[in-house]
Amino acid sequence: MGEQQPIGVSTRLNGAPAESDAHSLTVGNDGPIVLHDVHLVEQLAHFNRERVPERTPHAKGSGAFGTFTVTNDVTAYTKAAPFQPGAETKMVARFSTVAGEQGSPDTWRDVRGFSTRFYSTEGNLDIVGNNTPVFFLRDPMKFPHFIRSQKRLPSSGLRDNNMQWDFWTASPESAHQVTYLMGDRGLPKSWRHMHGFSSHTYMWINAAGEKHWVKYHFRTNQGEENLTAAEAEKIAGADADYHRRDLHEAIERGEFPSWTLHVQVMAYADAEDYRFNPFDLTKTWSQKDYPLIEVGVMELNKNPDNFYAQIEQAAFSPSNIIPGTGISPDKMLMARVFAYPDAHRARIGSNFHQLPVNQPVTKEFNNYAEQGHMQYHHTGDAPVYAPNSYGRMFSEAQGVAEDGWESDGALVRSAATLHAEDDDFGQAGTLVREVFDDEQRDRFVETVSGQLLGGLTPEVLERAFQYWKNVDETIGQRIEDAVRAAG
Ligand code: HEM
Repeated sequence: MGEQQPIGVSTRLNGAPAESDAHSLTVGNDGPIVLHDVHLVEQLAHFNRERVPERTPHAKGSGAFGTFTVTNDVTAYTKAAPFQPGAETKMVARFSTVAGEQGSPDTWRDVRGFSTRFYSTEGNLDIVGNNTPVFFLRDPMKFPHFIRSQKRLPSSGLRDNNMQWDFWTASPESAHQVTYLMGDRGLPKSWRHMHGFSSHTYMWINAAGEKHWVKYHFRTNQGEENLTAAEAEKIAGADADYHRRDLHEAIERGEFPSWTLHVQVMAYADAEDYRFNPFDLTKTWSQKDYPLIEVGVMELNKNPDNFYAQIEQAAFSPSNIIPGTGISPDKMLMARVFAYPDAHRARIGSNFHQLPVNQPVTKEFNNYAEQGHMQYHHTGDAPVYAPNSYGRMFSEAQGVAEDGWESDGALVRSAATLHAEDDDFGQAGTLVREVFDDEQRDRFVETVSGQLLGGLTPEVLERAFQYWKNVDETIGQRIEDAVRAAG
């Protein structure tokens, strides 16, 4: 991954020996510093440029390298290189919190990011998901607003419960994900002890060109474990980097964490008349209808040599798909395909893809993106345009896209619900009633009521009671009773 080891003598940036890393060049012992102390000037100037902006969401995280090994034959569904029998593919993964900044505690209640990259022979495949199978929204127009509501007040710079609940209760499609967040999964014991989900539906295409819809599930082989609220709060005070440290130390000890990747596979035609819109990111697919099919195992077995170069500058993106995989008509996913590379260009620079951690390992790399900040790879004097008559390859393919779908109609802005179960609260209610046990429900009521006691205006509080009653009448009433008893 392009590691660069320190060398024997200290040098200036031009490679010449640095006279001193301890003493500036001055006129006499205590005289003024001279501007032509090149080494001092370089050190100070570079220090001022040492940071790139942190990721706007998912700023705090860490990751590691590893391998993906195929354990089951899924060639009926995909021809993608890393999922072929016998394939072993290098990977990098990054885990994160969503709302906190770089220094924020790892154990604050939050959804956790679960980013994976397969360095496949056909290009980088990234699955950039979370530790929950759904999301707060189904339309990308709301995403920047959502993130801002979870960050900080413009006036005081403080995080604010009222702002978070104002947004959630005015966006009922958030109910399923907020139920996960306020449940045990909001406080994973470590990154090693949580599952990961693509959340979105993607497409798989097999060698015959047949298409299926898939959802990816990374199931932790360490067992799913979570912290109690009291434990999480204590750890947050004692060790803000608890999850980062846990992953790093486990790998140093040779205890390599692993996850078994499964997929749920839906026949292409089923999407039309499934019970609900299968591209709605606020919904899970029933595992009775679409059972998990094993694909292979991701093992993380190598810590980064350099956190900044390999984790901070890692540029994950759902737009990184490869032959045999594709996106779906999920509006959120279509927007993410644009948003991530744009974020990378702004955060890291226009040639972010040339950094070792982001470079594909494909034999062929022939892209006409030229120049820009920090261009490193170049094509010599090969033509910089296509079509050209001088031997640089280009493509003029036409026709139906292999990973496309049929689409027609007027341009609209719509929240149309065309399927019988396209609602906001149904699956959240099922989660509370049928997936949580009594103890989980008790903890859930305690967590939500505790949050609602945190400075909500009367209007937002009333809306929050109604929101939870819409999820489940009984749980909503319990939450309201707990808040009124404490308030
Ligand atoms: C990070 C945008 C939805 C998971 C980011 C970043 C942006 C972004 C701009 C920072 C990227 C960077 O600077 O490197 C969006 C938009 C969304 C959306 C516009 C919806 C329209 C989602 C969803 C998920 C998700 C639905 C999970 C299913 C992540 C993760 C990261 C991230 C895991 C951290 C990536 C890393 O580890 O570097 N998002 N996001 N996001 N997002 Fe999203």
